[in-house]
Amino acid sequence: MVARPPVRVVVDLMTVDDLPAVHVIEHESFSTPWPSHAYRQELENNRLAHYIVARWGDEVVGFAGIWLLVDEAHVTTFATRRAWRRQGIGERLLLALLDLAIARGANEATLEVRPSNGPARRLYEKYGFKVVGTRLRYYSDNNEDALIMTTDSLDGRPMKARIAELRAAVAARPDIELGPDGQPIARSRAGQGSPAADTADSDAAADSDAPAEPEPREPRIIRPSRFARRGP
Ligand SMILES: CC(C)(COP(=O)(O)OP(=O)(O)OC[C@H]1O[C@@H](n2cnc3c(N)ncnc32)[C@H](O)[C@@H]1OP(=O)(O)O)[C@@H](O)C(=O)NCCC(=O)NCCS
Repeated sequence: MVARPPVRVVVDLMTVDDLPAVHVIEHESFSTPWPSHAYRQELENNRLAHYIVARWGDEVVGFAGIWLLVDEAHVTTFATRRAWRRQGIGERLLLALLDLAIARGANEATLEVRPSNGPARRLYEKYGFKVVGTRLRYYSDNNEDALIMTTDSLDGRPMKARIAELRAAVAARPDIELGPDGQPIARSRAGQGSPAADTADSDAAADSDAPAEPEPREPRIIRPSRFARRGP
């Protein structure tokens, strides 16, 4: 068998043609997914909204979005395809969102996340998001509170230095390689032991190396009210 050469992940603006793939990732990531028409509406009618996808070749392997509200970038959604997690795709998406926010003059980025969503919280913490408050019973499916996480000034020296350092680390990562099953080969991070070690704690265990079922508790960040669904 001839091995396929590795292909780099690139981040691109989401288009309506991406929506079938986004739909698949949305459904495997969230227990109360947004319908495709909600994304279509965001793309076509919401001038505050900016949505991006991560592509590996022609395949959409992740997506994210922000609303740019005056000088604040509010992350609206964020997910990586389950089989493609822990490969640096989330970081590439977050870097692209921050680049977009900075280019459009945002001074800070903010989001809501479930306290129970360890993988996402770790990602955001790595990128300088700090817990600044709580929205009580924010998630309607189980009345879980939301943590509000916000960055320091995107224009400030600490955030600029952090972003530059993380961008360099992401650029230095090896390309993703697929196994014979067409899925990425799980690869340990340098000096971090086996991939299984990534899920050694209880927060991490909520993530994805395990069965292909949606998160038991929907880890939605923010849901514009017109898309809201009450209860499971
Ligand atoms: C959160 C999510 C988007 C991360 O995507 P990803 O492509 O796996 O992220 P990356 O591979 O770029 O990981 C970047 C960092 O995130 C954190 N992280 C991601 N998955 C983790 C896990 N299972 N356990 C611990 N930390 C994790 C780590 O800090 C990691 O950096 P490291 O590799 O140096 O340890 C992904 O897990 C996902 O789609 N989850 C379901 C949807 C969701 O929860 N969205 C967020 C809603 S708020």
